[in-house]
Amino acid sequence: MANNHHHHPSSATPPPISAAFRMATWMYQSKSWVYSSVLVLCLCFSLLHVGAQNGITDPVEVSALREIKKSLIDPNKNLSNWNQGDPCTANWTGVLCFNSTLNDGYLHVRELQLLNMNLSGALSPQLGRLSNMEILDFMWNDLTGSIPKEIGNITSLKLLLLNGNKLSGSLPEELGNLSNLDRIQIDENRISGPIPKSFANLDKVKHFHMNNNSISGQIPSELSKLPELVHFLLDNNNLSGYLPPEFSELPSLLILQVDNNHFDGTTIPETYGNMSKLLKLSLRNCGLQGPIPDLSRIPKLGYLDLKSNQLNGTIPPDKLSDEIKTIDLSNNNLTGSIPSSFSELPQLQKLSVANNSLNGSVSSNIWTDRTLNSTESLKLDFQNNRLTDITGSTNIPQNVTVSLRGNPVCDSDNTSLVQFCRPENEDENNGTVLTNSTTNCPTALCPYPYEISETSPVNCFCAIPLIVDYRLKSPGFSDFVPYKSEFEGYLSSGLVLHQYQLEIVTFAWEKGPRLRMTLKLFPVYVENSTHTFNTSEVRRITNLFTGWNIPDSELFGPYELIKFTLLGPYANVFSSSKGESGIGKGALVGAIVGGIAGATALSAIVSLLILRMRMKRNYQATVKRRQMSKAFLKIDGVKDFSYSEMASATNDFDSSAQVGQGGYGKVYRGILADGKVVAIKRAQEGSLQGEKEFLTEIELLSRLHHRNLVSLIGFCDEEGEQMLVYEFMSNGTLRDHLSAKSKEPLSFSLRVRIALGSAKGILYLHTEANPPIFHRDIKATNILLDSKFTAKVADFGLSRLAPVPEIEGNVPAHVSTVVKGTPGYLDPEYFLTHKLTDKSDVYSLGVVFLELLTGMHPITHGKNLVREVNSAFQSGTIFSVIDERMGSYPSDCVEKFLSLALKCCHDDPDSRPSMAEVVRQLENLWLMMPESNTKLTEEVITAKAGKEVSPPSSSSEVKNPYLSLDISGSNLDSGVIPTIVPR
Ligand SMILES: *[C@@H]1O[C@H](CO)[C@@H](O)[C@H](O)[C@H]1NC(C)=O
Ligand SMILES: *[C@@H]1O[C@H](CO)[C@@H](O)[C@H](O)[C@H]1NC(C)=O
Repeated sequence: MANNHHHHPSSATPPPISAAFRMATWMYQSKSWVYSSVLVLCLCFSLLHVGAQNGITDPVEVSALREIKKSLIDPNKNLSNWNQGDPCTANWTGVLCFNSTLNDGYLHVRELQLLNMNLSGALSPQLGRLSNMEILDFMWNDLTGSIPKEIGNITSLKLLLLNGNKLSGSLPEELGNLSNLDRIQIDENRISGPIPKSFANLDKVKHFHMNNNSISGQIPSELSKLPELVHFLLDNNNLSGYLPPEFSELPSLLILQVDNNHFDGTTIPETYGNMSKLLKLSLRNCGLQGPIPDLSRIPKLGYLDLKSNQLNGTIPPDKLSDEIKTIDLSNNNLTGSIPSSFSELPQLQKLSVANNSLNGSVSSNIWTDRTLNSTESLKLDFQNNRLTDITGSTNIPQNVTVSLRGNPVCDSDNTSLVQFCRPENEDENNGTVLTNSTTNCPTALCPYPYEISETSPVNCFCAIPLIVDYRLKSPGFSDFVPYKSEFEGYLSSGLVLHQYQLEIVTFAWEKGPRLRMTLKLFPVYVENSTHTFNTSEVRRITNLFTGWNIPDSELFGPYELIKFTLLGPYANVFSSSKGESGIGKGALVGAIVGGIAGATALSAIVSLLILRMRMKRNYQATVKRRQMSKAFLKIDGVKDFSYSEMASATNDFDSSAQVGQGGYGKVYRGILADGKVVAIKRAQEGSLQGEKEFLTEIELLSRLHHRNLVSLIGFCDEEGEQMLVYEFMSNGTLRDHLSAKSKEPLSFSLRVRIALGSAKGILYLHTEANPPIFHRDIKATNILLDSKFTAKVADFGLSRLAPVPEIEGNVPAHVSTVVKGTPGYLDPEYFLTHKLTDKSDVYSLGVVFLELLTGMHPITHGKNLVREVNSAFQSGTIFSVIDERMGSYPSDCVEKFLSLALKCCHDDPDSRPSMAEVVRQLENLWLMMPESNTKLTEEVITAKAGKEVSPPSSSSEVKNPYLSLDISGSNLDSGVIPTIVPR
């Protein structure tokens, strides 16, 4: 059952002084004289209260923490705030304290929570001086060295969590002094040597997890005295000797799992048949001999795995518990027949007796006596025995698989037996299964870090989830599907959440077998609420996981917490130094953004629908107007093509000429009468604009000339068609070159150059176009590459104009429009508030940068690129996501580029760099690259010279002089001011 610690780390309690201050401010603002005297009292009280509560950390513990940090290597600088102020009151990362002083007048460290922080180095013996500590958590780091014996001094310790490191040496005897220890997890390390006998003194230990080490020697029979022991996991070690028969006396034991050890030549103690509480017995590959003991008296045995031993004799005939779900006796030397009691097991999912010497016949009752519902399955494996016959029906119900291959029964000519004798399907049902979408919402609808809650009672609910990587260490079943919703119920009630708030995103079987899952927890849906968890909720849920306060489940067994991802507004929940009252700035921004989200997330969807309907109406109106009057317009600098010119350039819009398809319509490669190759964008129904709007846009586009923008050559506005004619980019879209199929992957330096070019093109739109233009749909398919791989931004024709000063100097900060753009690239702020700013383009370009660095798509299989890279960045594993195909590159340049990209993708627009800053940083980066000295550097050379230079190599493509972006205000001097001449 749950070990019920109460978690009130001091960091969870807002310092009362700030609350008082806010109250004072409020009173002042409300001009309430009546309260002024109360205010004085309040302040005095608060100050007293502060004095009583705050205190300082025990100096012994402060110096111990400093020493602990010294022996760690912390590449991600997670512990950087361990140099400043007092550990307990300045909220050092991972340090949680008692929220009041103890008798000695000091605050004391209660928990050290350093889960998954990419820490290496060693554990300092100084840990022993944190003498009031209850939780020590270093799970999933890279620690080396041995476990300091001094940890044995922390007698208050309840949870010792060191699993998932590279700790070596032997288990210190002193750990046996931890008389309050509830849980010892040292699994997945490199511990060797024996289990000390002193561990028999761990009177309160329930969970003993030491699997996947190199622990050797005999399991001390003294451990059978542990009164509370529930889970004993020692699989995958080097244990030898024999299984202690005394373990049958363990009064609380539920799971005994010691697979993959070397009890060679010994037997399974007969006493084990007397275990009264046992749920799971897993003794796979242990070198065991002799008979299988009678286990029929264990009332709740649910899982029995004795695979790959040298067990002999017959299978005990007595019926096992009704709870049994898995029986695996394969790869032994068993003889005799298959017990008829196997057909009386109502919950059986898997039975394997393959690779033994069983004889006689198989009774079809095993599968015909079971009624399976649609989620249940039954897998029966009798392969490679000496079975000669099947008695009863040879019909196999759905969801049942039966295999009898390698038995004499398969040698017969009876065709009704063929179905039992086919080779096994190789797919072992251990692949990842994605949750089926139950809503009709495109998963890409919500911008990062918002995600769609598939299980929410309202449709298309976008909220920011907590993401938990979770693993069942010793599940009591072989097929999860029938228990999936029971699991959801179990875990959500353990977390005190509604079941719909929990979503299993993926699950997959791993060696063990263990069941790995990714879970998303969503906030409650409340109309007009924040769509985020508040800080105390995040802390509450985190503490339930990291303090192991979720009640154990008999069916699901112990769990492992692999990663707890606090991203977006949750990132600062545990490091409150950035904001008052213990809430990080991110959380505040999140709450505000979320608040607006409540009002707008759904309205955005409604708006989209309304927009659609309106477009349709517009289109009909346009057609009418067109029929009545054809405007005569002339725009200088671009050519007005006729429909027939367009048709002959594209062979009547033949599908072979089509080179792309966008939101606007199809794109064709065309050859004009003069031999010039062009790209023709043909608007489709829904993209057609009013004639005046169309021509206004062309007028605007015709004025834009920049080396990194695709130039408009002409347009066609005839026969109810609207087409835009652009210069043709022979190297296609950037996306084409990033896809796995591309034959010649782009080098890193070329990627930087493409990034720089794109940023310059967009900066031009933001700062030099008049009026300024926000692109609104920057994505890798809108960045085109010419024959020299110069990046050219396309599709800004669909842009809205940037804000225009209304009254002198009074520039509105944003343009409010209907949400538009491409999923995966959408700025979350824009999505939620409809406030379009230059920073929305910065966000989208940041996503393109991440694509350049990783080669990945912004959204794949529900995974969001920004989230994936952010979390790789946080865990210090960025090089695992970098595109391997870009060859060798300077790693510091890659890191700089990546960190710039992530800054561009920050949730908070104010934290993103400006486009000018992006260009500046990329130019610096480019100058660091060896390639920057070669010919390809026109851009940088030009920028440095501060002159407008037309690069000779591409002069034919560029109509206007190259415009250096370091010089402002001199760019629209191309002379051609288009004119619109109405009829
Ligand atoms: C434990 O060790 C076994 C055998 O080496 C390995 O197959 C398995 O993946 C390991 N499990 C974990 C969780 O590391
Ligand atoms: C099982 O328990 C019963 C009653 O406590 C005892 O009489 C019997 O000897 C035990 N069997 C074994 C094999 O230990």
